[in-house]
Amino acid sequence: MRTPIIAGNWKMHKTISEAIETVSHLKEKIKNVKGREVIVAPPFTAISEVSRVLKDTFIAVSAQNIHWEVKGAFTGEVSPIMVKDAGAEFVIIGHSERRQYFGETNETVNKKIKAALKQGLKVILCIGESLEQRESGQTFQVLEEELKKGLFEIKSDGIESIVIAYEPIWAIGTGKTATPEIAEEAHKFIRDYISKIFNKDIGEKIRILYGGSVKPTNISDLMDMEDIDGALVGGASLDPDTFAEIVQFK
Ligand code: 13P
Repeated sequence: MRTPIIAGNWKMHKTISEAIETVSHLKEKIKNVKGREVIVAPPFTAISEVSRVLKDTFIAVSAQNIHWEVKGAFTGEVSPIMVKDAGAEFVIIGHSERRQYFGETNETVNKKIKAALKQGLKVILCIGESLEQRESGQTFQVLEEELKKGLFEIKSDGIESIVIAYEPIWAIGTGKTATPEIAEEAHKFIRDYISKIFNKDIGEKIRILYGGSVKPTNISDLMDMEDIDGALVGGASLDPDTFAEIVQFK
């Protein structure tokens, strides 16, 4: 049995006071929820305060990015040690927005994953194809390449601290969710590939989240699919009532 994970990626939203208000409300709303893991990923500036509010709850905190070095002359960057120190237990790595706008590559993704694991952070590795890649029949090739290069030299004990998020770029922030069947096909491919490069047991255990316009109205149909183990939610995670509804999917 894989415990479902519902994670909220706030992206570049919320000041510290807004973040505190959101999680204070959220923790009350879902305090009796059982049988699922919940993660929120605030911007760097709010990690520390959000972690303080969520201390002694089952809601974990994630960073949205890290640098691969622990310290040094890298103006504007934040290291794995720093986000851990601020209270993050997870870090999102390889989000398509970072790949698209900030020059993230499979090689930097791999360096960041190694750095995160070394510091004891758990990783949410994002992969997914663009509309153009899907329409030209390259989806599986893209996913395979992102997994192969992103997970280069990661050992079996490392993969246990990694969650994969399948986020088709064409479904992010567009309101255009992948159908459960389209998502399931990609998730199954990812699970089979992880089983192939590690082993069947690891493939069965790894959690694969779907991301891209997840809402209270489509979460249940997505979660009904065999290989969908949860969701990475963007826009709909900003409002604590809406996010709490997604967390409590039937
Ligand atoms: P939306 O839910 O806003 O489409 O964003 C998905 C996402 O990118 C989560 O990381």
